[in-house]
Amino acid sequence: MENQPAPPAQAFSDADRAAVYQAIFSRRDVRGQFLPTPVPDALLSRVLMAAHHAPSVGFMQPWNFLLVRSQAVKQRVHDVFAEANAEAALMFPDEKREIYSQLKLQGILEAPINLCITCDRTRTGPVVLGRTHMPTMDLYSSVCAVQNLWLAARAEGLGVGWVSIFHEKALQDALGIPQHIVPIAYLCIGYVSHFNDRPELEKAGWLPRLPINELVYFEQWGEADAGHNLPLTAALSEMQAAIQGQGIFPK
Ligand SMILES: Cc1cc2nc3c(=O)[nH]c(=O)nc-3n(C[C@H](O)[C@H](O)[C@H](O)COP(=O)(O)O)c2cc1C
Repeated sequence: MENQPAPPAQAFSDADRAAVYQAIFSRRDVRGQFLPTPVPDALLSRVLMAAHHAPSVGFMQPWNFLLVRSQAVKQRVHDVFAEANAEAALMFPDEKREIYSQLKLQGILEAPINLCITCDRTRTGPVVLGRTHMPTMDLYSSVCAVQNLWLAARAEGLGVGWVSIFHEKALQDALGIPQHIVPIAYLCIGYVSHFNDRPELEKAGWLPRLPINELVYFEQWGEADAGHNLPLTAALSEMQAAIQGQGIFPK
């Protein structure tokens, strides 16, 4: 682009940067498009290793990766989902309940691989560098592992769907997870027929993507731009309009 300063020496090449953004903007939560095609172990090892290289508070690495390939275990987990999902449907007002009941919210039985990413809050003892005053930081670390895996999977052409409609204890029981280990993400993983160009919940009219400029504050909570950040806010608006229009990140 014109009038852009030269990128710092540490920046990726244009093609590599584009690939990173492509992974981010084309990642989707996948529920209904799984194919039975087996996922090669070499590929699976790469996405698991990507997860294991996530940031973690105090380098605690509180995660474990519980792989589920057995159809019997998947069925147990699906039963736990079905119970929670029936309860969840009743919690929405009538007009939303109708849409909710038509949504497919998991691909547990269809996906060749299920993976539970957990957090062991005791992993490195009671005092953890960086977690001393904000105890939930270990949970967030395991979430970072989920996101690393999700993006790496997208780059590999592998779909991932996060299922969270469970009673936590019932999920722990279905998977033999001890009580002190927190299940962070239950993921359905596999090759897919296609990736949607936008979130399924957006397509279904559940919720729209929020305008980013309403979410960015300046200097103090809740404060909009006082006019000092016009190039930034204009760039964000323009980019969001382009993404909404084309469904892709503009090059
Ligand atoms: C913590 C978390 C839990 C989620 N749980 C579910 C779920 O139980 N079922 C489902 O269909 N999608 C679930 N999702 C996926 C979201 O609905 C999805 O990320 C969102 O609609 C945006 O779509 P996208 O991921 O395709 O961009 C979850 C996502 C996150 C981050």
